[in-house]
Amino acid sequence: MINLGVLASGRGSNFQAIIDEIEQGKLKASIRILITDRPDAYAIERAKKHNIKHIYMNTKEFSSKDSYFEAIAENLFNEKVDLVILAGFMRIVGKPLIDAYPMKIMNIHPALLPSFTGLHGQKKALQYAVKITGCTVHFVDEGMDTGPVIIQSAVCAFHDDTEETLSNRILKMEHKIYPEAIRLFEQGRLEVQGRTVMIKDIPSRDYDYLINPPIQLTD
Ligand code: GAR
Repeated sequence: MINLGVLASGRGSNFQAIIDEIEQGKLKASIRILITDRPDAYAIERAKKHNIKHIYMNTKEFSSKDSYFEAIAENLFNEKVDLVILAGFMRIVGKPLIDAYPMKIMNIHPALLPSFTGLHGQKKALQYAVKITGCTVHFVDEGMDTGPVIIQSAVCAFHDDTEETLSNRILKMEHKIYPEAIRLFEQGRLEVQGRTVMIKDIPSRDYDYLINPPIQLTD
């Protein structure tokens, strides 16, 4: 059982997917706190519904990016958070938080990293007209979407996709692989060696799952 702290800026559907797996008993975790950088983030409504402590932290009340992220780290420490989950948190994490939680911050990105980093990963994939894109869960380092990759899922992109249709297809997979990555962490099965995240004890029959999660993970 681990304690999670979630950082979100908006809708919070990944936050919801994690809540759902916890409530279904599939993920042995407790969400101790939701921190948002926007007062109108819909994630707050989800936290209220599930009795999860939530706070809005206004960047404008802090003199620097470092002091903002120091305060976030303090709030997470106070809640005895083991693992920090970025769930649609639209800021680059400051060094004080990364130093406080080395290789204990996860992010989900709506593309197959290192492609299409930053905002609008789905739109960038469409503009590039790739045939396959997807989503990535990775540990967070000081760069933008550059930390070690934990799990990825491939999703087809079609020539007649809109940003919305492609985003929805990717999002379905996000909701599968994010709880899965957290589960692997909770089970002590992730070991980071340089850029490589080793997943311990994957039986050989599950190898497909690692290289092509959609086959295994799609309902
Ligand atoms: C998700 O698609 C996530 O991958 C993306 O924002 C969306 C948040 O949705 N994150 C990024 O683009 C980070 N660069 P959600 O609030 O419903 O989870």
